[in-house]
Amino acid sequence: MKRMIFIFSVAMVAVFMIFFAYQNHTISIHTGYRGSGQFILYQPSKLPDSIALNSIPEADPIDDPDPTLPTIRQKYKNVQVLDDLTVLEFSRLMGALATWVAPEVGCEYCHNPKNLASDEKYTKRVARIMLKMTRKINNEWTAHVGGVGVTCWTCHRGNSVPTGDWYTTAKLDAVPPGLGDKQNQSTPGIANIANTALPFDPLSRYLIEDNEIRVQGTVPLAGSNAIPQNGVRKAEVTYALMIYISKALGVNCNYCHNTRAFGSWPDSKPERATAWYGIRMVRDLNKSFLLSSVAAELPSYRLGEFGDGPKVGCGTCHKGTFKPLLGKSMKADYPELWRAGGPQIDTGYISPPHVEVNNPIVPRESLVSGRY
Ligand code: HEC
Ligand code: HEC
Ligand code: HEC
Ligand code: HEC
Repeated sequence: MKRMIFIFSVAMVAVFMIFFAYQNHTISIHTGYRGSGQFILYQPSKLPDSIALNSIPEADPIDDPDPTLPTIRQKYKNVQVLDDLTVLEFSRLMGALATWVAPEVGCEYCHNPKNLASDEKYTKRVARIMLKMTRKINNEWTAHVGGVGVTCWTCHRGNSVPTGDWYTTAKLDAVPPGLGDKQNQSTPGIANIANTALPFDPLSRYLIEDNEIRVQGTVPLAGSNAIPQNGVRKAEVTYALMIYISKALGVNCNYCHNTRAFGSWPDSKPERATAWYGIRMVRDLNKSFLLSSVAAELPSYRLGEFGDGPKVGCGTCHKGTFKPLLGKSMKADYPELWRAGGPQIDTGYISPPHVEVNNPIVPRESLVSGRY
């Protein structure tokens, strides 16, 4: 009898172990060139969470055009960006704005309900800048967002303050002399860099200014590498940024790189080129909007410890997914956010680097010069 119970318990444990192993098993799919070992790993058990996170609220049906209605200028007093819409398009989009950004409070999050034309609420003034920013992303940053583009939902997902925004991080408390720099010690709680012992604020360095993200020499012999400051510190802060990017997209390094040679563009996957544009786009959004016009409108309690405004990172749109909303576009439902008829916006657009046939990503001469 005892033996039966023993065998039964062992069998049960085995069943549970197989069950849990199955629940958390990982699938790997090879996506790079043959033999390059560029695998994507994912856990099927996590897919339902990802689908829920990336769901899109149902759009109201698009109204048929009605030429008997007044124009937007005739009907409203203070429409500065969306003046290229019809009144029907405008009302439908206002409803969507409420669903995307303030589903609980609704119109009043941005408006004084007694006077919809008034700009008294800062949230309305910020929303107007956000409309310009969204149109700029969709019309001018297609090198990154392609035809998929973004709406307010891509970042906000029903929150007035979207997840994945970031502030310049305060220096951690000084450590006693002799223990070195706190930056390079294990820093639990700094999620951006996965609690590693790397510099903890790579984003301020790389997602605002045009600092070069390069550490690997392009010519043999260390002394002849003309790229300045390629020291250990530069390598650490580069890796910190790369860890942030990988986490923000929910991928491994070899989603973009061939780990044989991180710096080599011909060995990298096309996704790395998309990411290259993403980095430039994020810098542009932060400089042209978040750190300038948006920060100027936000109340002080929304600013960071150093008075800096909240900023966009890769995670603000991606939220741990390789493509925001799993690559689904909302353009067919909200073409208004792709229209560019409003007042001219300062572009700051960077033209794509020259493309060569046998190196689909970046020209070789720029690799040698170390700049692109
Ligand atoms: C997230 C902020 C936000 C929400 C929520 C919002 N609006 Fe607006 N609303 C704006 C902005 C910004 C403008 C100005 C647009 C422009 O300048 O192009 C505006 C303008 C308007 C105007 C034009 C007023 C005038 O005479 O100039 C009306 C009407 C309006 N909204 C109605 C609504 C209604 C109704 C709702 C709720 C269903 C709503 N809005 C929800 C941001 C918002
Ligand atoms: C690229 C990402 C992104 C997109 C797209 C985007 N926003 Fe934002 N939005 C932000 C960030 C980042 C903030 C600052 C959050 C903070 O205060 O920490 C913000 C703040 C706001 C605020 C102020 C919230 C508050 O309570 O302080 C409003 C209102 C807003 N956005 C409306 C919109 C509207 C409307 C759209 C679409 C037209 C839009 N946003 C599109 C990233 C985005
Ligand atoms: C989503 C794509 C992507 C992922 C994932 C990614 N990287 Fe990168 N990596 C890039 C891009 C793009 C650059 C070049 C940035 C630039 O030039 O502005 C780069 C640059 C680098 C460099 C500098 C290469 C040089 O020329 O000196 C190193 C090292 C690096 N990555 C390591 C990593 C590591 C380690 C990981 C995983 C933790 C990783 N990367 C994940 C896109 C990615
Ligand atoms: C404004 C929103 C937004 C931000 C911010 C953003 N992305 Fe993206 N990204 C997108 C969209 C939308 C796509 C899908 C484009 C498509 O399918 O053509 C995308 C696609 C990508 C892809 C291609 C994925 C694939 O499998 O083809 C990579 C890689 C990527 N982004 C990296 C980044 C990195 C790195 C950052 C931060 C430096 C970043 N993104 C910031 C919106 C954004």
